[in-house]
Amino acid sequence: MATFIQNSFGLKVSAGHYVDYSSAEDLRKALRDSTPKPWLPIGRGSNLLFSGEVFQGTVLHCTDDTVETSFGSNYVRVRVGAGLRWDAFVEMCVEKGWYGAENLSLIPGDVGAAAVQNIGAYGIEAASIISSVEVYDTFEDCERVFFADECEYAYRSSIFKHCDKRYIVLKVIFKLSLEPHFSLNYGNLESALTGEPSLQGVRNAVIAIRRAKLPDPEQIGSAGSFFMNPVVSAEKLAELQSSYPDIPHYPAADGISVKLAAGWLIDRCGCKSMRKGDAAVYEKQALVLVNQGNATASDILALADFIINSVKDRFGLTLRMEVEVV
Ligand code: EPU
Repeated sequence: MATFIQNSFGLKVSAGHYVDYSSAEDLRKALRDSTPKPWLPIGRGSNLLFSGEVFQGTVLHCTDDTVETSFGSNYVRVRVGAGLRWDAFVEMCVEKGWYGAENLSLIPGDVGAAAVQNIGAYGIEAASIISSVEVYDTFEDCERVFFADECEYAYRSSIFKHCDKRYIVLKVIFKLSLEPHFSLNYGNLESALTGEPSLQGVRNAVIAIRRAKLPDPEQIGSAGSFFMNPVVSAEKLAELQSSYPDIPHYPAADGISVKLAAGWLIDRCGCKSMRKGDAAVYEKQALVLVNQGNATASDILALADFIINSVKDRFGLTLRMEVEVV
């Protein structure tokens, strides 16, 4: 029987084959049972856009939400099952007094997907607190550990994202500080805090900012940022600044290039609140495409195409999707 696939866009899509697994053994057994390809590891479907009504392969869903800890003098290592909801993990860290994850509060999805996507917000990326990732290697049929420096982490990218689904994340091992340490330099985060920074205070401020700008996935279908922020050379920035002196820009991770704000570019093209069918550009953050009710994947992709062309025509920049189309 076809199984409904959870996806935060709220599209009606089912899987011909669907496997829940909670261990490497379960996964090995399921994959040996000649499950039809392609295999699609999935968390809560918060970064996926299904292009058809039926996914003609096998969805692999991890249900392992276990947590194990080991303590060092000033840090804790937390080994977490890939199926734990990301924000449940952040909430636990904040409650226990473990520093490092609080800026990543309220991001939808699971822990495993967070390690694949290198989720980021308010100046922090998941990579900054990941110490290793345990995966199942579907090519070699064995378990394998990637230490952080082997994960090829970059902006919304990792080795796991570009491996043709070879590696399926089983566990993520985080290293969090037991000593107070905050990162408050992004945008209005510091000014949104009341009083001295605390873990719960930062979490509350991030939640308040996100709720004000981003749609609640329980109420409005979306996949968060639909596009990535473009990274350009200093020369390209200077060219753009001559026409758009107020263009927001941030140093990119390499210290040489510059990251631009795709939301601003889309907004400046006049695309905010634009609609194609029931797909729309979110009125409070132009980087987010939403499902106003009965949007189809075609509506969303038509709107995305229109945006890509508008930004290309106006700024000479090609936006790349953050969302994965399957
Ligand atoms: N802006 C506009 N109009 C808009 C949207 C944004 O002018 O419609 C401007 C803002 O005023 C600001 C700049 O663009 O000057 C950047 O906006 P914002 O701070 O909202 O962040 P972002 O770059 O649009 C990124 C992440 C978000 C993350 C925020 C906060 C990406 C693709 N997106 O958005 O991540 O929450 O920073 O750190 O990097 C996600 O990945 O799903 C996501 C929501």
